[in-house]
Amino acid sequence: MASLVSSSLMSPVRLCCLYLCSRASRRTLSANGLGQRSLCPGEGAAALCRQTNSPWWNGSRGFFSRGGGAGEEQQTLEDIAKNIRERQFKRVVVMAGAGISTPSGIPDFRSPGSGLYDNLQQYDLPYAEAIFELNFFHHNPNPFFALAKELYPGNYQPNLTHYFVRLLHKKGQLLRMYTQNIDGLERLAGIPPDMLVEAHGTFATATCTACLRKYEAEDLRPDILRGTVPKCPTCKGVIKPDIVFFGEELPHHFFKYLTDFPLADLLIIMGTSLEVEPFASLAGAVRGSVPRLLINRDLVGPFAWCRRPQDVVQLGDVVGGVQALVDALGWTQELDVLMAAAAEKAATKTEE
Ligand code: APR
Repeated sequence: MASLVSSSLMSPVRLCCLYLCSRASRRTLSANGLGQRSLCPGEGAAALCRQTNSPWWNGSRGFFSRGGGAGEEQQTLEDIAKNIRERQFKRVVVMAGAGISTPSGIPDFRSPGSGLYDNLQQYDLPYAEAIFELNFFHHNPNPFFALAKELYPGNYQPNLTHYFVRLLHKKGQLLRMYTQNIDGLERLAGIPPDMLVEAHGTFATATCTACLRKYEAEDLRPDILRGTVPKCPTCKGVIKPDIVFFGEELPHHFFKYLTDFPLADLLIIMGTSLEVEPFASLAGAVRGSVPRLLINRDLVGPFAWCRRPQDVVQLGDVVGGVQALVDALGWTQELDVLMAAAAEKAATKTEE
């Protein structure tokens, strides 16, 4: 097979795939961890990378080319920090998953042993991801609401990773944060809603599954914390938080990616396994010349099977990785002040 594959052909197909995936619904690529990844056409390139151990695929030039071409030195965390500090990077897009909330005490989904999907035995589910499936929810909403009681906003506080993104916004260098998380810690850290794409929905609002009446998180809090299924006073239907279940369409604001990712000059990916489409494919939606920084415990997605010359990987604990970036930026004291003020505000609110 010719090793030259025009990514110009690939990228419309890739974006089309992203669009089709996100139009259709959010789907797991491996139901119950046993299924096979369905390759989007765009991932054909990845498969090609993997199979032929071929040179790098650089989307900006449209060809496969050997990594580290002329003038393309391997980027480092310090290079990225320098370009952020000197405001060379002014349109930073952040992608995040449950791994940024584990330091706040919320389990992620797939970490062996500690992940949520390894700890749902008490709910007697047919398989772990059923807890986020509409058909199962209509059949038995209790497991989801038992989980909602654990995760409901108000029980946990943001951590350094959330406040780093807020500081990036404060400096006018955050273009958007795309999060898969439903815990609301990004909002709680003070990241404005218009800077956020909560791709898998949020607990902040809810909808009656029968009459579609809208509710706020506070309307459901008493029932959920009491362990009862919230019912619509209008029609007695079950009220479901606006979390995107497998099979449901993603929120319309997910489509901001169509303009955000081509504009991005840096992509930071933190605390995600990049296992769930169409969110995972966003990692390949920035131009080939744009550096991508992964801060995660392990290699995931294209960082594992088809790295680009400008990719940088900071493996290990996410707080340690973000702290290293913040230190390299020279923003340590500023972030400490921001977090201290937030902690004081949270303590005052708790007293009230
Ligand atoms: N530091 C660094 N990495 C961490 C940490 C940590 N403290 N904690 C977890 N991680 C990493 C894990 O190793 C894993 O690679 O974060 C990633 C979390 O992956 P998942 O548990 O799969 O979570 P996520 O990627 O957000 O899942 C995506 O799956 O079922 C759906 O709705 C669910 O939105 C979720 C989606």
